[in-house]
Amino acid sequence: MKADFSDGSFRPALQRFFDNVKALPARFVASAARNGLPASDRTRSTFVFGNVFLHIHPVRVHRWSLRWTTTLGLGVASMAAFLVTLATGVLLMFYYKPYPDAAYQSMQDILFVVPSGRLIRNLHRWAANVMVVTVFLHMARVFYTASYRSPREFNWVVGIGLFAVTLGLAFTGYLLPWDQLAYWAITIGANIAQSPREVTDALGITSFFDIGGLQKLLLLGSDTVGEEALIRFYLFHVMLLPLGLACLLAVHFWRIRKDGGLARPADADSRADCPAEDTYPVFTEVPAKTYHLAALVRGRSPAVGRGPEATLPSMPHLFYAEAAVFMLTVLACLFLSLLSDAPLKELANPLVPENPAKAPWYFLGLRERVSSWAFMGGVGIPAVVLLGLALIPYLDRETAGTGEWFGGPGGRRLVAKAACVGTSSVLVLEAAAIRFGWIREWFPHVPQLVVTLLNPGTLLALVYGAYSTWLVKRYDSTRAGALGLFTCFLCGFAVLTVIGTFFRGPNWNFYWSPAHWPVH
Ligand code: HEM
Repeated sequence: MKADFSDGSFRPALQRFFDNVKALPARFVASAARNGLPASDRTRSTFVFGNVFLHIHPVRVHRWSLRWTTTLGLGVASMAAFLVTLATGVLLMFYYKPYPDAAYQSMQDILFVVPSGRLIRNLHRWAANVMVVTVFLHMARVFYTASYRSPREFNWVVGIGLFAVTLGLAFTGYLLPWDQLAYWAITIGANIAQSPREVTDALGITSFFDIGGLQKLLLLGSDTVGEEALIRFYLFHVMLLPLGLACLLAVHFWRIRKDGGLARPADADSRADCPAEDTYPVFTEVPAKTYHLAALVRGRSPAVGRGPEATLPSMPHLFYAEAAVFMLTVLACLFLSLLSDAPLKELANPLVPENPAKAPWYFLGLRERVSSWAFMGGVGIPAVVLLGLALIPYLDRETAGTGEWFGGPGGRRLVAKAACVGTSSVLVLEAAAIRFGWIREWFPHVPQLVVTLLNPGTLLALVYGAYSTWLVKRYDSTRAGALGLFTCFLCGFAVLTVIGTFFRGPNWNFYWSPAHWPVH
């Protein structure tokens, strides 16, 4: 008989086998986690860089970054919402069929036949809404804390890409149920894509330079919303855009590390109350130490001069906070999904227009501006705004206020005043256009180019531009101008969204309440 003497005793093989069975769970955990419970500074570190999912985080994180007010958890909430849409989207794909004659039926099956199908669909829809909101607020947080500045300029640009892809996902997903709402909202979207024709027609060059027609064709694959459009939207929605988002997210997170963690004020070390030295001992003091790519290349890394003195181990401080935000976001999506069902109207009918055809609420601000001036409202101004947003870090090269809420000359007071200017100008222009109409109503034969260039949307953009130029001069600061412009556009967008969502009815006419809509 063979025996095991490794522990100095004699035990038969069967006994050893049972011992192994007993020890299996503990050995499995030890083989996966290797370093046991993260109880010391050393094991807390190996917990981070020994784990494929966690090692994107730093081992230690600055106290300033851990304050709730620094980020409000919005980046993590965006990521959580994205993961919920991803998981529920994959589940929906088991049943959804991307063909016009089957799509609507498959949505009905998901709602009425597939077990928990309705909940999964609601979760997908609500998580997408939550994602749009949190991504938008996250962008605003980064802007208002001036965290886009060097060395984070490029990450801001990557963020603008994330923002655009997020909206692209929302837009392409809207067509898939193939109901009346989807069909007619996307028809309007496609007409907006075609709207540069307004300009090429006015210039008489459409016959050889039809950028609007090309855009519409690329989007729909044909003249009207049909099966080519549905398959294109499906491919974008489930494949190309999620892949694009995943690639951009990888760069985004990697850059946060490489840019030296989150932005913080220059004196954050002294302002973030540091832990006592014996709570989390650190291995050295600034400036005795420097971080650099030791002896590999010349030059400094962004972390030079930043010691670990004001930092805490990521495990547990950062991870517990992230887990809390993550769970809260999932809970919020779940709660909303149980509370309210995602809409599904009748089967799409190309012969019966939906009136009003309303896109998702976050596009209704844009739709409000597009109502009579498709090109400037739907393409011209959004393109300028997106480009302007992307260029902010390269145009504001100041350093005062980095990492602080409303940091920079003017601060909170400036933002409050800009909010008043932004809101009142959009209200005045909207009220005037609703009450008195616009150039086309006054002068029916005026050339289209005049209407295209001179409409409430362009006027509003001009007012905002002029106000922020004045702010630049008044405070002698580009950051002051940026704060003013961003706040004005934010307020303008919010007001237009509210009007588009609640006060527009059939033919996009203004109504105080849906109860006043004409009965037909
Ligand atoms: C799917 C969308 C996005 C996700 C999941 C995401 C995620 C994150 C996370 C987790 C952080 C760490 C700090 C935090 O939690 O707030 C972060 C930081 C950052 N994000 Fe995003 N983000 C997204 C979109 C954006 C957008 C739209 C912008 C701006 C246009 C942006 C710009 C930045 C910048 C500049 C930082 C560094 C901020 C700092 O140093 O304080 N991100 N992002």
